[in-house]
Amino acid sequence: KKKIGILTGGGDCPGLNAVIRGVTKCAIIEHGMDVIGFNDGFLGLIEKRFSLLTFEGVSGILTQGGTILGSDNKANPFEYTVTECGKQVKVDVSDKCMELYNDLGLDALICVGGDGTMTIAQMMAEKGAKIVGLPKTIDKDLEGTDITFGFDSARAIATEALDRVHTTAQSHHRVLLVEIMGRNAGWLTLESGIAGGADVILIPEIPYEVKEIASVIRKRSHFGRRFSIVAVAEGAKPVGGTQTIKRMVSDSPDPVRLGGVSHVIAGELERETGIECRVAILGHVQRGGSPTPSDRLLGTRFAVKAMELVAMEQFNHMAALKGNELVAVPLEEVAGRQRLVPLDSPLIKAAISVGTSFGAKLN
Ligand code: F6P
Repeated sequence: KKKIGILTGGGDCPGLNAVIRGVTKCAIIEHGMDVIGFNDGFLGLIEKRFSLLTFEGVSGILTQGGTILGSDNKANPFEYTVTECGKQVKVDVSDKCMELYNDLGLDALICVGGDGTMTIAQMMAEKGAKIVGLPKTIDKDLEGTDITFGFDSARAIATEALDRVHTTAQSHHRVLLVEIMGRNAGWLTLESGIAGGADVILIPEIPYEVKEIASVIRKRSHFGRRFSIVAVAEGAKPVGGTQTIKRMVSDSPDPVRLGGVSHVIAGELERETGIECRVAILGHVQRGGSPTPSDRLLGTRFAVKAMELVAMEQFNHMAALKGNELVAVPLEEVAGRQRLVPLDSPLIKAAISVGTSFGAKLN
C-alpha cells in the first residue's frame, strides 16, 4: 500500500482542515493510500511527531478553522535552532528529516503552506523528497497561482470590519483606520478595502503621503461627509521609506507585524486635519474561524488535485488555480518569490474610478 505524508506550515488560516480532510478522504477512497499527518509543520518531521490519519479522524473538520495538525512557522530543517553550551545555534537537520521520510517509506509529502513552506519544500525536493505543494495564505502573495485558500475568508472578515466601523465613524464624525494583515503585499487590504467601501486604501506597493490622505478627509468634510474610513495594510509605508515608521512604532526588530503603522498615521492625520481618529487593528481575528464556502471548495479542489499529482507521480510541483482551471506549477517557479499587487492592476484602476484614494498622487 502506498503511503503519503502531509504537513501544514506557516501561519494558519481557514481552509486548512478542508485540505487535510480532502487529501485523507481522497487518498483512501480514490487511491487506496495511507496518509501520515506530521504535527506542527516541519517541526513534526524534525522531531518525529506524526500519526496515521483516518477517515473517521478527519470527519467533521471541514467547517473548522485552524489546522488539526498544528503549525510552526519558524521550524526549518535547514536552519533548526538548538541550544549548544547555553547558546542558540542554527543547524542543518535536513538529512535526519530525509532519513525519517525514507524509514517511513513515504511515496510523497504534501506540503501545505505559503512562500516560506514552498521554499523549504523545494529544498527538500532537491534532497530527494517527492513533494507536492498546496498554496495557502490569507496574503494571496504566492507566485504561480491566481488565488490561495484562506484569502477569501480573511477578505470577508476584513470587509465586515470595514462595514461595521462605518456606522460608528459616521455617528461620531471620526476617521476610522482599520489595519489589515498581508505582510508586504496589499491584496487583502486592496480587495477588502474596495468591497468595504474604504475612502482611502493604503497598500505597501503605493507609498503614502499623510498630506494627501488629509486632503481627501478635508474634502469629504467640506462636502458634508464628516467621517472617513481608511483601510491600512500592515506593511503600508510612507513615501521615502520605512525606517521612520518602524522606529516610531516600536523598538522591536519587526514592529510592523506587532501592528501599529495605523497608530502613527492616525496621530499625523489628527494633527493635519483636527478631526478625531480611531484605530482598529484586526490582527489574528482575520485568520480565525470557519472558512467561507469558497475556501472550503477551493481547499477540497486543491486536495483532490494534489492527490492526482501524487498518483501521476508529477512531483515537485504546486497545485495552483489559473482562471478556473487547476494546474501544476514547478516548485522552483514559486520558491523564494512573492507576488505583490502590480501598479497597473485593474483593481487599483477600478477603485480610483469610484473615487477611492491611495494616499498618493497617482498619474
Ligand atoms: O502570512 C500570514 C500572516 O497572517 C501575515 O498577514 C502576517 O503578517 C503574519 O502572518 C503574522 O504572523 P504571526 O502569526 O507569526 O504573527
